[in-house]
Amino acid sequence: MRCVVANWKMNLLFPEASNFCSTFAENYNPVEDVRVAIAPPSILLWTIHSQLRGRGITTFAQNGHFEPKGAFTGEVSMAQIRDAGCSGVILGHSERRQQFGETDEVLAKKVAAAQSHKLLPLLCIGETLVEREREQTFSVIKTQLSVLKGVSSGPIWVAYEPIWAIGTGRTADGRQIHEAHHFIREELRVLLGEAGSSVPILYGGSVKASNFGSILSVPQVSGALVGGASMDPLAFAEMVKTAQEA
Ligand code: 13P
Repeated sequence: MRCVVANWKMNLLFPEASNFCSTFAENYNPVEDVRVAIAPPSILLWTIHSQLRGRGITTFAQNGHFEPKGAFTGEVSMAQIRDAGCSGVILGHSERRQQFGETDEVLAKKVAAAQSHKLLPLLCIGETLVEREREQTFSVIKTQLSVLKGVSSGPIWVAYEPIWAIGTGRTADGRQIHEAHHFIREELRVLLGEAGSSVPILYGGSVKASNFGSILSVPQVSGALVGGASMDPLAFAEMVKTAQEA
């Protein structure tokens, strides 16, 4: 199975998002083995879900709270995300870890909450440039993955997003991606047993239509989590086609 996920972050207004859906849908033909998901800002979730329903494209939220409901102003629960038509939720994006103080402890609760609401967690992991230069990449990834210890009772996807490659135009090279994905696969097998062999591992960080084919050819890469380039419907459609033809 291959997976292509658009992370729009805090971008696009309703008319732009709506145009994206029409243009993308016109240029997209679903294929069974390639999963396509759009993660818009939560305020657009229902709209996007309604526009894309029945077209083989699912929606993911970009974050969710672990508590089922209550006095958490500004937060959205997993039940509400599910209610808005989503099939998954991005968790632990580096922007949430760095700018909103999300810890592994909180993420363990979020993964469990997502799974208990039948949402697919897409757990993001990855090192900073300083950590890479200090040769701490594997230990950082290992710690971030340890949130899956004992909580994973259902399907999960993982995205390896080296922070230095996000929004910088600088992708990790094939060897760096292969080493990281190979390490993640081994860790997933340790943490999840046999189920760890089939968890899709996506790459993220300056993926675009022109480099996606070569990234996808790296062993253990199941797809991509795309930021900036995912807001152009034709570029995103081209990336999906690349995954379908790989
Ligand atoms: P860019 O594709 O803009 O580098 O963003 C990657 C990302 O953070 C996706 O979650």
